[in-house]
Amino acid sequence: MTFDYLDVIGAGLIILDSEPFSFDYVPEQLVGRDEILREMALKFSPVITANGSGKAVLSGPVGTGKTSVAKRFCRDLQTKFEASRKIKYVHINCRNHSTPMQVLHKIVSVFDEGHPDRGLAMGELLSSIRKLARKDSTHVIVILDEVDRLLRKSGNDVIYQLLRIDEDQATSGTLSLIMISQEQVLDLLEGAVISRLGTSSLVKFSPYDLNQLYQIVEQRAKLTIKPGSYDEKILRLIAEGSEQYGDARRVIESLNNAVLKAESEGRSNLEMDDVQQASTQINPSMSEDIVKNLTTHQKLVSLAICRRLRKESNMTSKDVQGIYAAVCEEYMVKAKGQTTIWKIINDLEISGIISREVSNIENTRGRTTYISMPNVLPNDLATRLEMLIKAELR
Ligand SMILES: Nc1ncnc2c1ncn2[C@@H]1O[C@H](COP(=O)(O)OP(=O)(O)OP(=O)(O)O)[C@@H](O)[C@H]1O
Ligand SMILES: [Mg+2]
Repeated sequence: MTFDYLDVIGAGLIILDSEPFSFDYVPEQLVGRDEILREMALKFSPVITANGSGKAVLSGPVGTGKTSVAKRFCRDLQTKFEASRKIKYVHINCRNHSTPMQVLHKIVSVFDEGHPDRGLAMGELLSSIRKLARKDSTHVIVILDEVDRLLRKSGNDVIYQLLRIDEDQATSGTLSLIMISQEQVLDLLEGAVISRLGTSSLVKFSPYDLNQLYQIVEQRAKLTIKPGSYDEKILRLIAEGSEQYGDARRVIESLNNAVLKAESEGRSNLEMDDVQQASTQINPSMSEDIVKNLTTHQKLVSLAICRRLRKESNMTSKDVQGIYAAVCEEYMVKAKGQTTIWKIINDLEISGIISREVSNIENTRGRTTYISMPNVLPNDLATRLEMLIKAELR
């Protein structure tokens, strides 16, 4: 038996190491989060200086690095202050641990894997945590990720119990708390937690901008795939495809999908098609309707753009004008003037067919506006447009 079909596994045409593609991988350096990490350091300075503790609520949209920042911060703190204070941390996803007992058991397990699971009341578990931490001379940082799950299901009691774990006790600074939640549930947190902690504990995350997304995908590409298998244009296209979301997870997934597609076709390099096709799968936003409902000249301009972007990763508005004139000639219609073309380009961006970017990424000329199609396969769209235009002009 030869197991030929397994050859695709580990063929390594492009991939060097797929571990950094995994969802819980945290890079050594986080792009664009220095300011936030400094903020965290300030909030947690009592942990080191005075046997104290810290607390923070991290909030922001999906894929903005909340979980990564929390883990990175705990690891860095642990390493840097190894000599002065023993620190352990536990990441609890409240999606899977949504009751007080599950949360407390998870914290106890940091010290004692085999701690008896059943029959203990909340107070007993809290006291176990206190004793174990003291015996171990350890400060424990508890990360309650997706904390809104816990709040919805079980209320805020366990959070208050954790915050006052040392109250009326001989111990101090047993535990720090980092709570994480997506932005839209901030209201829930506001009532339940922030009003008690004070707004000073709040750390806000913003979506990543195009440059940051570019740096994130570049960093991940260097960690996962062979240097000669891609070029900067591909990474730029990936970043542009996620710009409207500002979500780091999207650029990483999109790189991963593109790589898998190229490898499955036996290639050792990434092509623009790989990115566009992968993106059409993640986000089939380019529905038939959008294309069908374009006006004739919007279709003609789109077709002009597709024709160039079959071969190039981007183009300027000037390029569009030239090719559009040729397309109009081909279909024997009178071309619209420049102002109308500019307006059409705007409309196409709004409908998500194209993406526009004023170049501010290194290695590009001046400050020109570039048009690209990160979420559409230009070839496919061109075929559809040609059919629709022919039918309309008949
Ligand atoms: N600043 C960054 N630099 C490098 N990689 C990052 C950065 N921010 C996020 N990532 C990567 O993007 C992915 C998503 O990040 P993370 O899970 O931290 O986001 P999140 O804000 O917790 O998202 P969610 O709201 O969905 O939980 C991870 O793979 C992470 O490694
Ligand atoms: Mg997260």
